[in-house]
Amino acid sequence: MNFSSLNDMDLKGKRVLLRADLNVPAQRGKVTDTTRIDRLKPTIDYLRDAGAKTIILSHFGRPEGEQNPEMSLAFLVSALEECWGTSVAFAPDCIGVKAENAVSKLEDGNVLLLENLRFHKGEKSNDPNFVKALASLGDIYVNDAFSAAHRAHASTAGLAQILPAAAGSLMEQELKALDAALGNPQKPVMAIAGGSKISTKLSVLNNLIKKADYLVLGGGMANTFMNAKGIDVGSSLCEHDMAEEARSIMNNAEKAGCKIILPVDCVVVSELKVNAEFDVVNSDKIPSDKMAIDAGPESVSNVIEAAKACKTLLWNGPLGVFEIKPFDKGTNTLAEAVAALTKEGKLTSIAGGGDTVAAMENAGCADDFTYISTAGGAFLEWLEGKDLPGVAALVKAKKAA
Ligand code: 3PG
Repeated sequence: MNFSSLNDMDLKGKRVLLRADLNVPAQRGKVTDTTRIDRLKPTIDYLRDAGAKTIILSHFGRPEGEQNPEMSLAFLVSALEECWGTSVAFAPDCIGVKAENAVSKLEDGNVLLLENLRFHKGEKSNDPNFVKALASLGDIYVNDAFSAAHRAHASTAGLAQILPAAAGSLMEQELKALDAALGNPQKPVMAIAGGSKISTKLSVLNNLIKKADYLVLGGGMANTFMNAKGIDVGSSLCEHDMAEEARSIMNNAEKAGCKIILPVDCVVVSELKVNAEFDVVNSDKIPSDKMAIDAGPESVSNVIEAAKACKTLLWNGPLGVFEIKPFDKGTNTLAEAVAALTKEGKLTSIAGGGDTVAAMENAGCADDFTYISTAGGAFLEWLEGKDLPGVAALVKAKKAA
């Protein structure tokens, strides 16, 4: 993928519009997980060291073009200062006089955060006037928000077309990791797809069977496949109306030479609650009044054995209801094995999307994977094989330069 990097740009004294994704988990005005902020630090450090004036653009939540104080970015300033070890100024709007005044006060190496982009309708609609208003505040555009790259918004797609544009370090790191997982992976490749529903992941599954040698199905999704094979899944979460789609995925996988691995045993309960009484049964022996909520030990060891023969592993979605103990065991045991193979240098492991990061953190393994993406929707759209507008805009800008 050909786009400009930070080191292609002459940054000294330049006003750099940095698109970051500060849509971070927060509760009662406090950031509860700083991962996305921490991961921006290399880009912030680079820009400061290069003597740029860094102007951060971000969204938070979905205020749909309305000024919504609950979605102001102001509360982030202290967390940014703490994580990045520098002072961060704040402007209460992202365009117009308030933003211009704040930008005009910046000295080389300073950092400024502008108010939520999505307070303006023009952000989502990629309105050319809004793009121009943003562009007037900077000399160079840097996109470091891979996790927002699936949006064709003013700050993710529009700006790259009118300012000299480059990818930030985090964007580059994400794309490199994702390329190692699916674009240009070392084979054999194992893809693990968990989570509750196949209806939301049909395109992902259809793309994965073309790329992977093994597709492991877990979570509620596995029940839909078992049901499609004529197996009674009792009262488990199952999309009975997706049986035809599941059968078509299984047929296409066979044609593509992708082996689908389904659970051979599972943990079943009558009621879903912490420390509920449970049994382990064969997957084709689920009692009619019980539900499968985690992969059983034999299923997990089957996956571990197959993973030992692989060079690349891509993981999206947990194998069970990992939020409720002890039904995180299947996910945790597999995550530990993947982390160990990675540490031994035998496997390149990449995880991301939705609650996958939380599941890996719960397993205590997040640091031992080759790469954990903090992207949600963007990771899934990338898994579908789609072109992401935010990335495409950087490539287009490079071609036009
Ligand atoms: C995310 O948190 O995944 C990104 O910030 C994108 O947010 P959005 O789905 O509201 O565009």
